[in-house]
Amino acid sequence: MIPHSFIQDLLNRVDIIDVIERHVPLKKAGANYSACCPFHSEKTPSFTVSPTKQFYHCFGCGAHGSAVGFMMEYGGLNFIEAVNDLADRVGIQVPTQQSEPHPGVSESREQRTGSSSQNLFEVMSVATRFYRDQLKHSESAVTYLKKRGLTGETASRFAIGYAPAGWQNLAEVFSDYRVKAPRGPIDPLVETGLVVENDDGKRYDRFRDRIMFPILNQKGMIVGFGGRVLEQGEPKYLNSPETPLFEKGRELYNLFGARKAIREAGRVVVVEGYMDVVALSQHSVNYAVATLGTATTPYHIQKLLRQTDDVVFCFDGDKAGRKAAWRALENSLAQLVDGKSLSFLFLPEGEDPDSYIRKAGKNAFEEMLGQALPLSVFLFKELSGRADLKTSEGRAKLVQEVKPLLAQVAAPMLALMLLKRLAELSGASQGELEDLLQIRRVASPQSRARVPRPKPASPYRWLMQVLLHSPGYIHKLERGLLAGPSESNEEMAAVAALVEFIDSYPHIQGGKGASSTITYFHDSPHRALLEKAESETLTWDESIDLDAEFSGALARLRDMQRKKRMTELHSKSLSALTSEERLEYQRLMLS
Ligand code: UTP
Ligand code: MN
Repeated sequence: MIPHSFIQDLLNRVDIIDVIERHVPLKKAGANYSACCPFHSEKTPSFTVSPTKQFYHCFGCGAHGSAVGFMMEYGGLNFIEAVNDLADRVGIQVPTQQSEPHPGVSESREQRTGSSSQNLFEVMSVATRFYRDQLKHSESAVTYLKKRGLTGETASRFAIGYAPAGWQNLAEVFSDYRVKAPRGPIDPLVETGLVVENDDGKRYDRFRDRIMFPILNQKGMIVGFGGRVLEQGEPKYLNSPETPLFEKGRELYNLFGARKAIREAGRVVVVEGYMDVVALSQHSVNYAVATLGTATTPYHIQKLLRQTDDVVFCFDGDKAGRKAAWRALENSLAQLVDGKSLSFLFLPEGEDPDSYIRKAGKNAFEEMLGQALPLSVFLFKELSGRADLKTSEGRAKLVQEVKPLLAQVAAPMLALMLLKRLAELSGASQGELEDLLQIRRVASPQSRARVPRPKPASPYRWLMQVLLHSPGYIHKLERGLLAGPSESNEEMAAVAALVEFIDSYPHIQGGKGASSTITYFHDSPHRALLEKAESETLTWDESIDLDAEFSGALARLRDMQRKKRMTELHSKSLSALTSEERLEYQRLMLS
């Protein structure tokens, strides 16, 4: 059994957006994210994920749940497995506990002791040790690295190794390499991408005769490799495939190793290649990281901006470099906050950071970094180059091209600066541009008009929503209102179950609510109803007045009880009423 408090804690740590985005590409849509539903087939997206409420809902098929629910539905895992999976990801240990049954969740007898990703990490580190060991024995590999100017010290700091030529070298360190299938559901060697299995079930090493660069995640665990051919060959770099440990769009080479240097330097340099990072480091520029053969993603930017306020992209001066820089710019706009700076450095044609620092040295390189173009400058430089600003048509084109970019900028100061610059370049005034681009001046929260919301059809439904959203309201609940009517309906029963659940697990009450509560009702008869009720809270944003919602629901309940009692009294003939009942009737009529 997993304690509830742990699940609560886990759900507070994982972000459902991260969890789902690994499997389903999400698009920002207002306050939420949307996608085509992974649970049914559709062409227009009706699958919605709420980052603030931490649940997903599909308006098409009704799929609904928390991060745990998603892993169960999408990954086909049971409750325990889903919890384990998420805990692995955020690196926390799942405690086990003897008792404490909880409503709604069927118990699983399978208690997984070791987590599978632990095995995968173990496999990666055994392989790394093997490759490093092999480097010592390979004259050609050592010669190659020396020729590229690497010292043994640098190679060792980056744990660089060598995968020998030949097909099954890893069998030397993995005794079950050649064991015949079936090997069980998870084969760590294949799962990590180190070994490839062909259609005939033959297994062979993915990396052969290559210099091996281990890729560490932010916690310092080895999650993948980049393997370079010696001299010429295709592909020049072979990378680990996407695996449960490794997702290229989320990892940055050397981010773990560079953390301290990034803090000390107050900046990070993003370059394109493994060798660039390694060469920079050998020349004492230790705050460089590299993307892994992919474009810079919003996720990369987010990660970097958490480490430092100053990110410098250093790209080759050629066309490909400019294109890569533009992609990085586009993917940064929504991530930027005021006070953080992104800039772009283009090296002279034909140079990369590796070749440049070897020729010019650290000081020259850092001097160039200081001259990197701020994002705003690069943006307008690039767009101005695409339009002839001497003509009205050219200036109109500029405005048109800035529009979608500006729309993404979340940082108010930066947005304003970009707008001012656009005004200068286009000749239109700032006000004209605001009207033209339909930019609303930022309104203060008070002045923002409250959009009236249709009230739920039943007060029980309404109460359910408030309690799912903010379980703490349980303290203000007048219990008598629930005990009232004698006949029961489904909604009442669901509210009762919800209340009982929140009562029994006080740790829920202070939590982020919604997502975690629904998690426990996975096997409950009330699940469908609660999910539906919760999905209706998707439109609630920060302007929602929860106190008003809660007292609104209570008032409706009170009113319902009042009317019901009045009907009861009314149905009796007047003469049958006691004097007390007559008084009560009068009171009810007036209230
Ligand atoms: P480059 O071709 O610029 O290589 O690719 P490099 O880093 O300068 O390598 P050297 O100096 O020739 O050894 C930049 C990055 O793009 C990815 C790798 O991450 C590489 O570091 N890449 C490149 C691949 O993934 N596959 C390839 O075939 C080539
Ligand atoms: Mn290079």
